Amino acid sequence: MQDSKGWTVEQLVYVSRSVRGVNSAIGMSDILAEARPNNARDGITGCLTAIDGRFVQVVEGEPDKLDDLVNRLVRDERHTELRVLERRTVAERAFPQWDMLSPVLVTAEIDDLRRLMRDDSPGGLDDFIGPLQTALARQSEVLHEARTLSGGPPPEASNDDEAVQTA
Ligand SMILES: Cc1cc2nc3c(=O)[nH]c(=O)nc-3n(C[C@H](O)[C@H](O)[C@H](O)COP(=O)(O)O)c2cc1C
Repeated sequence: MQDSKGWTVEQLVYVSRSVRGVNSAIGMSDILAEARPNNARDGITGCLTAIDGRFVQVVEGEPDKLDDLVNRLVRDERHTELRVLERRTVAERAFPQWDMLSPVLVTAEIDDLRRLMRDDSPGGLDDFIGPLQTALARQSEVLHEARTLSGGPPPEASNDDEAVQTA
């Protein structure tokens, strides 16, 4: 399958353990700052979060670019025990406008993701994407209201809108 630019798009989700015990978007600001320009260059989009000192990341892009990223990720000493849970070809990206986002999560989403990240969980891409997209939709809604109240321009959500995660 191909996206609107005619590329084949694949999506993968992995979990790993943070060496520094990262639990917030602030704690991974170095990673996000590195990821975003690379991903913009490579046409990679996705979502990254950290819960209980473990990362979960959904990445999507052309197969070659995903292979390159996975090769870099497995060599990165900021995390260990990287486990790819699912990789598949998709018709559409789940996070088309995000070079890499770490959304603000509420307790229910954190609980869902925590359960899915357990070693014995059969969770796959759709299970992870659900709570992440819910968090994103809520964030966009809040931004929309804030901008409407302030009389600002109509919102177009982007990485610049990011707030700090609550996990
Ligand atoms: C949890 C985690 C997520 C990361 N996500 C990305 C990403 O989405 N894109 C990216 O280019 N690098 C990402 N990185 C950084 C890469 O592992 C790597 O350091 C970076 O791509 C630069 O690689 P290079 O020094 O070989 O060029 C991530 C690292 C960690 C620990």
